[in-house]
Amino acid sequence: MIDKIKEIARDAEKKIANAENIEELNKLQLLYLSKKSTLMSFMSEMKNLVGEERAKFGQLINSVKQDITKRIEEKKKILEAKALEEKLKKEVIDISLPGYNYQKGTKHLFQRVVDEVSDIFIGMGYQIAEGKEVEEDHFNFELLNVPKDHPARDMQDSFFIDETKLLRSQTSPVQAHVMLEKNGKGPIKIISPGKVYRRDDDATHSHQFGQIEGLVIDEHVSMSDLLGTLELFVKKMFGEKREIRMRPSYFPFTEPSVEVDISCFECGGKGCPLCKHTGWIEILGAGMVHPNVLKMCGFDEKKYQGFAFGIGIERVAMLRYGVDDIRRFYTNDMRFNEQFHKE
Ligand code: PHE
Repeated sequence: MIDKIKEIARDAEKKIANAENIEELNKLQLLYLSKKSTLMSFMSEMKNLVGEERAKFGQLINSVKQDITKRIEEKKKILEAKALEEKLKKEVIDISLPGYNYQKGTKHLFQRVVDEVSDIFIGMGYQIAEGKEVEEDHFNFELLNVPKDHPARDMQDSFFIDETKLLRSQTSPVQAHVMLEKNGKGPIKIISPGKVYRRDDDATHSHQFGQIEGLVIDEHVSMSDLLGTLELFVKKMFGEKREIRMRPSYFPFTEPSVEVDISCFECGGKGCPLCKHTGWIEILGAGMVHPNVLKMCGFDEKKYQGFAFGIGIERVAMLRYGVDDIRRFYTNDMRFNEQFHKE
């Protein structure tokens, strides 16, 4: 029996060494170590032995079993490493192949101007407020001091959705929303860029265009704060040499109201086709927030004052980048869009 066990040990050593893959090895494991294997069946013979012989026999079977187990484990590691190596060889990636050449996009000029203007005002401590494009008449007009049937409504031919809702004709309703949210407590210092809609269509007007609203409310805010703020904005946006002037104007929600011009950057103020030979270019509307608006939006008009302004996004973009027709912003002609690469 002892010889038989030694023979099994030799046989196992050889077969394990020759195993070529994991499946073969698993079969050998069953063959030599499972309960039904010859080696294990010898265990039941032990009961027929006694004393020292029995101990020796038991030790022999155990050591053979341990030896086979160890050999199988070692071989398993070798085979697994080999399998991994083969898999890696098969899956080699050719990194010398050139990649696809994707077309790089550019920021649209509209968005670029929004970002530039926003950066300037953020630098002055303003926060960005968001508004909605479908607005209530109440916010778009009434809270801005334009009651129903007021003639000032004629200044903005609007797209109504039903009796009470419209596509906002200006970003000014954001003023009312922000003031009401603040519950009569200043200060407020926001800008709000977004799209607005009016029934208007020609080379310089579109039924959809962009505005950036600005609103500052605090105690002791004056017209000279408005002037200083706009002067800084204009110099940053159009160059240090630009000057601004204010002309009296009318908006229902500001009093006094002004139209702001900048000295023409094309001719420096001498007069040219761009400034229609006046030396000045109109860029925005502004004014001191009307006491009625402050009151309707929950602010004590005796304690608080404020100024507001509305900048036309396309207008600034057209002046700054020499765009001749507002429709170029919306027709998605890539030859136009790609001209404004920043790098
Ligand atoms: N909302 C005005 C317009 O669209 C512009 C404006 C904004 C004027 C804020 C004064 C103050 O014409």
